[in-house]
This record gives sequence, structure tokens and C-alpha cells, in this order.
Amino acid sequence: MPILTIASFKGGPGKTTLCQIIAAQCATDGLSVAVIDADPTKAMSDWHKNTYEGAPFTCIAETSERTIADLALGLDDKSDLVLIDTAGFGNLAGAVAMTVADHILVPLTAGAADLNQAEETIKQAKGLATAARRKIEVRAIMNRLSKTNLTKHAERELREAGIPTLEATISHRTAFGEISYSGEIPSKGSAAAEVTMLINELKTIGWIPRSSAASSHNEVEK
Ligand SMILES: Nc1ncnc2c1ncn2[C@@H]1O[C@H](COP(=O)(O)OP(=O)(O)O)[C@@H](O)[C@H]1O
Ligand SMILES: [Mg+2]
Repeated sequence: MPILTIASFKGGPGKTTLCQIIAAQCATDGLSVAVIDADPTKAMSDWHKNTYEGAPFTCIAETSERTIADLALGLDDKSDLVLIDTAGFGNLAGAVAMTVADHILVPLTAGAADLNQAEETIKQAKGLATAARRKIEVRAIMNRLSKTNLTKHAERELREAGIPTLEATISHRTAFGEISYSGEIPSKGSAAAEVTMLINELKTIGWIPRSSAASSHNEVEK
């Protein structure tokens, strides 16, 4: 089952927010989801433990570069989807989380600095994939979009720089900013529609399974 790592060169473009959205929505859709929180700040795992109120999924805090790959591959056997939230790749744990991944999602906000960081992240992923002699797919996703010229400019620059980018985008919205303390992801309105489009696109490109193999496997075993 796929391992999806969320990474970025610098902090703050929305890795944890995207991890929360993808984990919660996939769990709601009936997939068996396991998250590894590889960020020492433990934002994802603390949220899961103390704030999250939606459909259940597993979340384990693990920041040791020595353990992350074994943990991910172990969870992979019994989950439909393994997600790894990272602190970026400034540390070894982030690099291991990228190397064990099948797919790497790189959130970025509009602006030249973020475009550079997307390019750096993609170069890093390519280097790690070569070192591991395997294929690791990378896509950027635009987060905190507002309908300004700057955004349109950033989208054009991404295309021109040849950075593979998801069609789905996540806007700058209170509903997304509130996830960290509301304990739920948006379930209605335009924000929910963006979440659905993101999940559907990830299913279409094969980054998320369409249905649960883990639960049907468990049912057979029962
Ligand atoms: N689409 C969005 N709309 C509004 N606020 C957002 C959005 N995405 C992220 N944020 C906010 O931006 C801040 C940084 O996001 P976070 O997911 O923690 O980034 P990272 O994990 O990459 O450091 C958080 O306060 C979060 O609530
Ligand atoms: Mg984070």
C-alpha cells in the first residue's frame, strides 16, 4: 500500500494541515490510515491525541531516522495508506521519510521563495530516489491560494519551471486555518469541495487507493 510523505524545504507551507485533511478524509471514506509524525514539534500527533474528533486513524510520533523506515514499512502491511508528516528535510528523519516514500507531496504558497523551495525539494527527492535506486514521484500542491495576480503568476511560474503540480488547490480559508484547534476538517461548502477534489485527484493518479483492501483483508481473516 502506498506511502505518501509530505515534505518541504522550509517550514510553514501547510504540511501538517494537508496531512490532517488527507488522513481525516480518507478515514471518513473508510480507508485504514496510519500517520507517522516525524516532526519533533509533534503538531500532528498532539492534534490527533488531544483535538481530533473525526473518523479514527492511527497516528504515531516517531522522529528517529533509525526507526522511521521500519515503522513505515510495518504499517504499510496493514494499512490502505501510510502518511508521513515531516519537519521538512533539514534533518535526517525527513530524508529517510522521503526515501521510504512512494510519493512525495510538496505544499507551497504563492511566491518566489516557495517556488525555489519546491525546486529544491524536487531535486532532493530525485537525489534520494537515485541513491535508493527506485522511483519516487513528487508533486507540488498550491496551498493558501487567494485569487490574486500573484497566485496566477506563481501557477504560471510552476508550469514554466516544469514542476509537476496537482490540479487541485487549497485556498486560504478560515475553515482550513481552524483545523488545528477545531478538531475537524471542513465537511461542507467550498472548503469541503476542495478537499474532495484533492482526494479524487490523488485517487486518480494512484497515490490513494480507491477502496479499502486492508478492511476487506481483515474481514476475510475474521
Ligand atoms: N489553506 C489554509 N488556509 C488558512 N490557513 C492555513 C492553510 N494552510 C495552513 N494554514 C495555517 O498556516 C500555518 C502553518 O501551517 P502548517 O500546516 O502547520 O504548516 P507546516 O506543517 O508546513 O509547518 C498554520 O497556522 C495553519 O493553520
Ligand atoms: Mg508541520
